Amino acid sequence: MLSLIHSLCPTVLAAVTLLGVANAQGQAPLLPLSNDSSISFELLVSLGEAIYGGADIAPILGAALDITPGNFSGFSNTFRILADATKAAAQDPTNAYDLINVRDTWFSASDYYRRADFYLHSNWSDPLIYTYWQEQTAAFDNGIAALPVPGKRIQISADNFTIEAIWFATSLEDTKKPTLILGTGYDNAQEDLYHTLVVPALARGYNCLTYEGPGQPSVVRGQHLGFIPEWERVVTPIVDYLLTDLAPQVDASRLALLGYSFGGYLAARAAAFEPRLSAVLLDGGVWDFYSGIIKQIPANLQDLYTSGNKSAFDAAVLGILNDDTAPSTARWGLAQGLWSFQLTSPYDFINATKAYALKDVASQIQMPVWIANSEYDGYFPGQAQVVAAAIGENAVVHNFTGVAGNHCQIGANQELSRTVFAWLHQTLNN
Ligand SMILES: *[C@@H]1O[C@H](CO)[C@@H](O)[C@H](O)[C@H]1NC(C)=O
Ligand SMILES: *[C@@H]1O[C@H](CO)[C@@H](O)[C@H](O)[C@H]1NC(C)=O
Ligand SMILES: *[C@@H]1O[C@H](CO)[C@@H](O)[C@H](O)[C@H]1NC(C)=O
Ligand SMILES: *[C@@H]1O[C@H](CO)[C@@H](O)[C@H](O)[C@H]1NC(C)=O
Ligand SMILES: *[C@@H]1O[C@H](CO)[C@@H](O)[C@H](O)[C@H]1NC(C)=O
Ligand SMILES: *[C@@H]1O[C@H](CO)[C@@H](O)[C@H](O)[C@H]1NC(C)=O
Ligand SMILES: *[C@@H]1O[C@H](CO)[C@@H](O)[C@H](O)[C@H]1NC(C)=O
Repeated sequence: MLSLIHSLCPTVLAAVTLLGVANAQGQAPLLPLSNDSSISFELLVSLGEAIYGGADIAPILGAALDITPGNFSGFSNTFRILADATKAAAQDPTNAYDLINVRDTWFSASDYYRRADFYLHSNWSDPLIYTYWQEQTAAFDNGIAALPVPGKRIQISADNFTIEAIWFATSLEDTKKPTLILGTGYDNAQEDLYHTLVVPALARGYNCLTYEGPGQPSVVRGQHLGFIPEWERVVTPIVDYLLTDLAPQVDASRLALLGYSFGGYLAARAAAFEPRLSAVLLDGGVWDFYSGIIKQIPANLQDLYTSGNKSAFDAAVLGILNDDTAPSTARWGLAQGLWSFQLTSPYDFINATKAYALKDVASQIQMPVWIANSEYDGYFPGQAQVVAAAIGENAVVHNFTGVAGNHCQIGANQELSRTVFAWLHQTLNN
């Protein structure tokens, strides 16, 4: 195992020397916030949420200065300190005079607690995974309670699990409005989607329902359930709920589903079984999850996986999860995979990803589909076109290039939202 870790060093060096320049490995050409590409990306997630009230800018840039490459616990501590300070500001009684103050501070505190949690998932016994999540949830709830139309948490029963959702209506009145169902992917929370697409959707007159199913933050913590490939088991109960319990507010002829990141697979899979959806948006197109995941791990580990030696592969991967000198993207990605699939064997996790593929269902998708293709997407390069070709004439691909070309348009949420809503406007005749 030691020799394996040693042999990873050239990969670490290659990753470091490529940083800060445009390359095909997941970095759009923009000023990096860290010499660690994983940490730089994650800082940009938070910075990008600032334009829709999820964070302030200087605190993120200040955090960037304090965080050193590969130091996951340092990243967590830095954001915990920032989150605690922001929470204290939110609790200051002089803050409460004005609902804008209340929601700005609580939403930022919530975002910083989510960041504090992000790199902790390699150790499931770490109690901070739960305490930081309780903090982010409570802070977010204080924020949505202070909205002009307060957001509301909703639990929706599925066959043998419960979906955790949040309903954001555009109006206090019962008028039918176009409605967006938004689901995240491998790691981010529905609360992150609020500061990515819900704020600009509400501003344009769409109701939104964000949700989390098995594998996603609140369902993993609350129900200990990992991802399932049959995502229609999640989306169909949501559509049922919207068209019954929320029917007075939902325009059933303008009901769209958006899947974000790995959610691009999940939403497409669900759409193949859910004809009541009027439109589907995939950011991005995920044809085959396995081929995206396997490329994230160092070449020698890929070889070990394909050799089929499960015990050797598991030992090698478990050995790098807590090694600060191993490449962060692989280290985080594998730890997050075990956590979100609720598996203890890395070999079983990689194998499980093979079930997340669209080849058998894509041709069943019958409604208009918009697919983002991101020039610098290091996870699923080229897959958007394959998904579009399989869906056929209902699909359009939008190319995001240059600084907006990161996976999920991280850091370019304005370009993402104006593109998404322009297409929805045309497609749903709003
Ligand atoms: C990145 O590395 C360079 C060269 O080692 C160093 O000068 C710079 O301060 C580092 N930047 C960050 C954000 O750590
Ligand atoms: C990681 O950051 C923490 C600060 O939060 C620091 O105490 C620790 O020494 C750092 N670890 C390394 C290996 O630099
Ligand atoms: C995981 O976290 C628990 C609880 O904090 C701790 O006792 C244990 O040592 C940690 N394990 C590792 C491998 O760091
Ligand atoms: C939930 O239902 C699925 C599909 O019917 C089944 O495969 C799975 O084993 C069930 N899980 C539990 C915990 O009952
Ligand atoms: C798997 O790898 C281990 C450790 O390198 C080795 O001892 C074992 O013989 C291998 N098993 C097979 C079936 O190749
Ligand atoms: C790999 O996953 C498939 C399901 O995708 C399962 O049928 C198979 O048993 C798994 N193989 C191993 C070796 O775990
Ligand atoms: C979008 O990018 C792909 C390559 O990623 C290219 O093949 C295609 O022609 C581009 N489409 C447009 C409309 O520029």
